[in-house]
Amino acid sequence: MNYNKKTVKDIDVKGKKVLLRCDFNVPMAKDGSGVITDDKRIRAALPTIQYLLDQGAAVIACSHMGKPAATFESYKKKQLEKGKDEASITEEKWQKSLAELRMEPVAARLSELLGKPVVLADDVVGPDAQAKAAALKPGEILLLQNTRFEKGETKNDPALAKAMADMAEVYVSDAFGAVHRAHASTAGVAGCLPAVSGFLIQKELDFIGGALASPKRPLVAILGGSKVSSKIGVINNLLEIADTIIIGGGMAYTFSAAQGGKVGDSLLEADWKDYSLEMIQKAKDKGVKLLLPVDTVIADKFAPDAESKVVKAGEIPDGWQGLDIGPETVELYCGAVADAGTVIWNGPMGVFEFDKFAVGTKAVAEALSKTNAITIIGGGDSAAAVQQLGYADKMSHISTGGGASLEFMEGKELPGVACLLDQ
Ligand code: 3PG
Repeated sequence: MNYNKKTVKDIDVKGKKVLLRCDFNVPMAKDGSGVITDDKRIRAALPTIQYLLDQGAAVIACSHMGKPAATFESYKKKQLEKGKDEASITEEKWQKSLAELRMEPVAARLSELLGKPVVLADDVVGPDAQAKAAALKPGEILLLQNTRFEKGETKNDPALAKAMADMAEVYVSDAFGAVHRAHASTAGVAGCLPAVSGFLIQKELDFIGGALASPKRPLVAILGGSKVSSKIGVINNLLEIADTIIIGGGMAYTFSAAQGGKVGDSLLEADWKDYSLEMIQKAKDKGVKLLLPVDTVIADKFAPDAESKVVKAGEIPDGWQGLDIGPETVELYCGAVADAGTVIWNGPMGVFEFDKFAVGTKAVAEALSKTNAITIIGGGDSAAAVQQLGYADKMSHISTGGGASLEFMEGKELPGVACLLDQ
């Protein structure tokens, strides 16, 4: 895939209506109060928004939020799949679920951060959006409602893409978190307007794309998280690129079991044992150093106050489960990071939500904060861990995309990037 895309700097936006796709899919408080618990994604879009406004563009921003059911039928289907009783599924509940995914909190936060009013539309391409877009003046910003309120969005419906495009003259995408989705607002619309990237996408492409295409070596990839099955693509692709691959988190137990180790009650994906052995072999064939835990912290239950002790990898007694990498493994992994030229990290080393089992993840984050290597943190859990542990400022780049950064590292084409104009 060509990552060398035209940006907002390569196109004249003065006095033009610019449709700007952002990823404002931010976490909200669970109590339905509309409080945004982390505004990182809104902040990350500010440089592009500010640039467009300063250039005299009229900005029509849009984003998805969550996974709303765009019709009552699709809501009902989802609820039935979740095992809900048909009689309990009402239009009122559907409407309530939509209300929780409206863009009002984002518009308010964006307005605070920009220090200027953000006009909010009541729909995506309906009469309110059309009227507000038509009235928008250079230097003003409008935010459309949640793009997923339109049923054509996730289906990449050409009619919806055209209706969005018709409100504007230029399309700018800065929604890195959603570039792995071929939706109407992330991909389809680019077929109807001159389409370029914003500064955030450009930064993500430079860091992640750069590390994959021509990394400063040695390139060390740290892969954690619970399941091998969710990281297969990444392990497989990085075995072609990296010098060292470090495996941690729950998925290490599948590797251990595949090699005949005892994993007790640890997380195990038995169906993936053969695949793990294939990866070990592939690493040998390619001359890639594959580091697996040599010891592990085990617990007598999955709980923050579980009793714990350290054992050698592959020697976990029945009734116990591995919840973190052990101290010898920490030393081994931190040593590998110290001499790296580039480090890519995706997935925690243990159950870092429990303090007692966050030691491995903390140690790796600290090692990354001290190395001179270029440090790239995949979005999702590892980004959350680095932030929570206070090391965010010390990393070269923390991706704003969870699924998107993972698919990027898998070597997959990203439809939301592929659709933009090449340089
Ligand atoms: C994310 O949070 O990873 C992006 O906003 C994409 O969201 P989605 O998984 O609902 O498409």
